[in-house]
Amino acid sequence: MTSSETPISVTRTRTPGQRPADSSLSFGKVFTDHMFVMNYTEGKGWHDPRVVPYGPLTLDPATSVLHYGQAVFDGLKAFRGADGQIRLFRAQRHAERLNKSCRALCIPEMDVDLVRRSFEAIVAADHEWVPSTQGTSLYIRPTVIATDVMLGVHPAHSYTYFVICSPVGAYYKEGVKPVRILATDTHVRAVQGGLGEAKTAANYAASLSAQQEAEQAGYTQVLWLDGVERKYIDEVGTMNIMMQIGDEVITPPLAGTILDGVTRNSILQLLRDWGHKVSERKVSIDEVMEAGRNGTLREMWGTGTAAVVSPVGELGYKGEKISIGNGQTGMLTQKLYDAIVGIQYGQQPDKHGWTSVV
Ligand code: COI
Repeated sequence: MTSSETPISVTRTRTPGQRPADSSLSFGKVFTDHMFVMNYTEGKGWHDPRVVPYGPLTLDPATSVLHYGQAVFDGLKAFRGADGQIRLFRAQRHAERLNKSCRALCIPEMDVDLVRRSFEAIVAADHEWVPSTQGTSLYIRPTVIATDVMLGVHPAHSYTYFVICSPVGAYYKEGVKPVRILATDTHVRAVQGGLGEAKTAANYAASLSAQQEAEQAGYTQVLWLDGVERKYIDEVGTMNIMMQIGDEVITPPLAGTILDGVTRNSILQLLRDWGHKVSERKVSIDEVMEAGRNGTLREMWGTGTAAVVSPVGELGYKGEKISIGNGQTGMLTQKLYDAIVGIQYGQQPDKHGWTSVV
């Protein structure tokens, strides 16, 4: 069984790739020279943690993950600050969340310290790939897949954990930019007792047709409502959602259907530090539409690792459109973005100890 002291072997590539210019980076299209890999075998546990050259996985067509989706992932970032240091943002929390997703999918848990070290090991191996322009970062994608070769429907007996990395550009090339979102009451993403709080492939597959419909209607993202009453707001696209109505900042509670977002958690902490009234409570689409009509809906934004915050400039629901903050980025949204990014790049004091230098 691996533990936090288990050595991680490193085999370096003999054919390093060409690193792209920072200005050409988009999201998740280019991958670094190495990947971290570790295997699980029943009786042996997780074993052989190693950094190896990046390359294809060879899978039998009957591999269970390809059929029944027993897979989890997470996503975090490493940032190169103006001081040249590389910082991971909330690596421990991401490692813990990956294990929580594992539990939901009956995947054997890993040693959290070793998972955190896997992030550090891959970033250390590919440190030259961490871009340096403000707004760019190295996106780290840890993933676990079931690797039994069988078509029976039950938890697998063998798994592969791998971590790949992609240098990524600023989510919004021209700065933080408001998006248009469409609330749907015809599609649902998750229900209580389901997989909504796990970061698993199935949730993203479940989102695709609604996302396609929203795009066809001229919107950027779907605003998900609860799967039972189709009344309460859950998430936006792949992000958590927050809004300011009057002087209250509201975000849906962690009640089993939404992801326990690391950016969500960080932003709630900052808002509380700054003395804002913050409620993690159920909020109905009717309450939000009414606040939009009567002028008390001041700001709305999504939160996630990829975008940090994504301001919402327009909300559509049942044929009605509500403009939020005249379609401009709100002051609080911008302040939150600047605060998180400032900590990530080492430009602001990190009083909660969220970053770790690699
Ligand atoms: C994020 O907002 O960081 C996400 O989860 C998006 C990712 C699935 C691409």
